[in-house]
Parts: sequence; structure tokens; C-alpha cells
Amino acid sequence: MLEFSNETLAKFKTTLAQYPEKEAALLPTLWLAQYEFGYLSIEAMEYVAKLLDIPPSRVYSVASFYTMYKKEPTGKYLVQICRTLSCQLRGAEQVTDIICSKLKVNLGQTTPDNNFTIMEVECLGSCGTAPMMQINDDYYENLTKSKVNQIIDSLA
Ligand code: FES
Repeated sequence: MLEFSNETLAKFKTTLAQYPEKEAALLPTLWLAQYEFGYLSIEAMEYVAKLLDIPPSRVYSVASFYTMYKKEPTGKYLVQICRTLSCQLRGAEQVTDIICSKLKVNLGQTTPDNNFTIMEVECLGSCGTAPMMQINDDYYENLTKSKVNQIIDSLA
């Protein structure tokens, strides 16, 4: 059975103390679960539901709504390319094409070595530095063809 480590459990308790009711802590608790377990499996979401005393269906629906929650296992590097307007106008599609062709995968797929998963996502709140992408916790901004190649090479 899945359970938070003592360290994550302590973070969960600190988080919980900041909210007037347990359910309000659902989003940050899902983050903790994602960090702890790598992605939000059904079992992980059921665990979160239990921690917060809410129905699992509530957790599934919230986790499904937000693209930042991973419902499937991903590669070591989760590459999220912003496809919203500013990024789109400044070459997001090219960024996706470069990465997919370099790694020989399609959007939504993981490379056979399990190193990269490539996704397009909605606005990541860095429109002024479009086009941009997020890889794990880091933002890569003002992307150009050569920058994209360098970034992927450095991680491969
Ligand atoms: S449109 Fe790409 S970060 Fe906002």
C-alpha cells in the first residue's frame, strides 16, 4: 500500500494546517503525492482521498482537470512545451517538431530509453519569454532552434 514518507507526511501536516478544511488542501496534497510517487496512479489518488476524508471520485475529477498532474508514469525528463497563443505565435510548433524529430517520438510518447516524455500543455505563465517549455521543475525560455538542441543534448 502506498504511503507518504515521514518527510512528506510532515509537509502534508504543515500544508493541512494552512487551510480551514481538509478538502481545500487537495491541490497541494496532489503535488506532494506526485513528487513522492512520481505520478498519480489510482492508488495514489485513493490515498490522497483517504488523507483528506473526501470521496476518491472528487480526487480523480480534480486530478483529471489539471494537465500539471501526471496520471501516467513518464520518462526521467517530462518535457512540457507551451502551445498557447504567445508561444504559438513565436514558434512553439517548431519547438515541438525539433524535439520530436530529434528524439524520434510523437507527442505524448516516452523515448524507449525512458529518458524523455514529450507533451504540449497550456500556458505556463511565462508568455513574455515565449516560446518556452518546462522540463521537470525548470523553465527554458526564449527558445531558438539551437537552444532547444543544446538543452536536449545536455540532458540526453
Ligand atoms: S503562452 Fe506560453 S507561457 Fe503563456
